[in-house]
Amino acid sequence: MDFNKLRDDFPTLTGDNVPAYLDNACVTLKPQSVINTIHEYYTQTPGCGGRSVHRYGTAVSKAVRDARVTLGTFLGANDPNEIVFTRNATHSLNQIAHGMSWNKGDVVLTTDREHNSNLVPWLQLEQEQGIDHRVVKSHDNNMFDMEAFEEACSQAGDKLRLVSMSHVGNLDGISIPIKEITKVAHDHGALVSVDGAQSTPHMNVDVQNLDIDFLSFSIHKMCGPSGMGGLWGRYELLDELRTIQSGGQTVSASTYDKATWAKPPARFEGGLGNFSGMMATGAAIDYLSKLDMNAVHEHEIKLNRIMTAGVKDLPGLSIIGPEDASKRGGICSILMEGLPAHDVAILLDEAAGVMVRSGQHCVHSWFDHHGHQQGSLRASAYFYNTEEEVKLFADTLTEIVHTLG
Ligand SMILES: Cc1ncc(COP(=O)(O)O)c(C=O)c1O
Repeated sequence: MDFNKLRDDFPTLTGDNVPAYLDNACVTLKPQSVINTIHEYYTQTPGCGGRSVHRYGTAVSKAVRDARVTLGTFLGANDPNEIVFTRNATHSLNQIAHGMSWNKGDVVLTTDREHNSNLVPWLQLEQEQGIDHRVVKSHDNNMFDMEAFEEACSQAGDKLRLVSMSHVGNLDGISIPIKEITKVAHDHGALVSVDGAQSTPHMNVDVQNLDIDFLSFSIHKMCGPSGMGGLWGRYELLDELRTIQSGGQTVSASTYDKATWAKPPARFEGGLGNFSGMMATGAAIDYLSKLDMNAVHEHEIKLNRIMTAGVKDLPGLSIIGPEDASKRGGICSILMEGLPAHDVAILLDEAAGVMVRSGQHCVHSWFDHHGHQQGSLRASAYFYNTEEEVKLFADTLTEIVHTLG
């Protein structure tokens, strides 16, 4: 695939002062088709979908339905009604956590590298409902420890209810073997919820092939609009969840005494929706559907190899995770002894227009445990990034380290 040609589709990658944008694990850039779709909603059909039956309403209802079908097809859903539009992956994960019914002592397993969005809901349920959240430790190099996981499943026994893990870590880019994990979890009678925020934008994620039960993801990391996320779940499981936001759209009927819950996905989409966001989600997924996701993944690894080679031997710097870039996708997350990550990030932008992320990336628990309160400097590539951009990152960082170090 000629990824370079696709840069023309992104307004922020054309013209003057084009940055080397390497903060894609946080949020990706948007192609013109997504921006156009948002504009079209407000200028052509600014109505309410799902309820109003006039022309605006009908056009929006149809476009939202089309977007749901597109997203369902992209992820391998059996039925578009298994796709719930949410505000972000955090909302999706909370819908699962607070939508299931729990018994005291039910065990939930996560890894030790989770984003707060797949940690804090479980800590909250532990405090409020007495569930038992347990952390499966990774190997010293952050790779998934299958033996430790199997041991944790056996120890939990019939208390094991849910395995909730991020497919790819935003801390380090490391993927975990979801298919194998799911097999073990299912053998123990547990459900599997996957935080796909860092996998769905970068690789083929087919929910049937992975055999998982829930998938949460961020549309804003998939070339789509901010304030949009998604939740996929097996229909019969979604149908058992309580909604965490009840009101308009969430019921099929109500009387003064009783609410009759709507079927999924409407039950979980309470209140007037972000219609332009849903329609633009369709445009974003249409865009991604035309890409070869295996080639996207390979391209990111190629760029990460260049970043890794350029920074790995710099004094005081160490990459989180294995040195082999192919195990870290497009993410190069760097600990910098004695150098303040935020200052370095500002310098990278000011000196060379290189945009990266600095800090603890909402994985405070990992940094706390390992005693790296400074956080890390994280460069994350996407298909539109070039070799020149990642070289610029590595060369500028080298200069900064030699100047400040
Ligand atoms: C692995 C992971 N999980 C969850 C989230 C939260 O996503 P959102 O901002 O869409 O709620 C992120 C965001 O960076 C993430 O990287």
